[in-house]
Amino acid sequence: MPGERTFDAPYPDLAASQDSAVIARGRYLAFGAAHCVSCHAPMDKFEELENGLQMPLMGGWELEIPPGRFRAPNLTPDMETGIGKFTDGELARAMRYSVKHDGSPLFPFMPFQEISDEDLVAIISFLRSQEPIKNKIQPSEYSFLGRALRTFGAIKPETPKTNRQLGWP
Ligand code: HEC
Repeated sequence: MPGERTFDAPYPDLAASQDSAVIARGRYLAFGAAHCVSCHAPMDKFEELENGLQMPLMGGWELEIPPGRFRAPNLTPDMETGIGKFTDGELARAMRYSVKHDGSPLFPFMPFQEISDEDLVAIISFLRSQEPIKNKIQPSEYSFLGRALRTFGAIKPETPKTNRQLGWP
């Protein structure tokens, strides 16, 4: 199998804010409309989360499907196990273009490409405002099929346009 491909999607020129109204909007999106919490929180808390529990998005959801075993990473600002070392641009690019911080393509679990700059800033600002939680999530592991999909370009960066073609919300 040739080496994994990486892509040069642009880094959106956005920066997190410390404004409490912006953070509150991001929290609302992460636990509500954009449901980041459905995947970026421990699976054994599912019922409590369904019932409105709000906890740091420390990762934990795991799904095994033919292309691999997918794990939703820790999105709290912890420096080693979370997003502490990611730039705002890297986080924004992951949401808008489905490109991971290391340049590899993300599998299409997150159909947020059409999110507005304003909402993207709100979400990133909220993520940065969380308590840092040390919780090491192993990276997703790709099967032969998953690696082939990534290497041969079936899984590639998305744009708002391709997202519309797929008919996603
Ligand atoms: C359906 C489940 C699901 C939902 C909902 C979801 N994510 Fe994810 N997320 C994942 C998975 C799985 C990965 C890792 C995918 C992979 O390894 O290819 C991921 C990866 C990421 C990454 C990439 C980190 C990196 O390594 O660069 C970021 C950032 C992220 N998610 C943020 C969010 C935010 C913010 C939301 C809500 C707006 C959200 N996610 C909603 C499942 C989800």
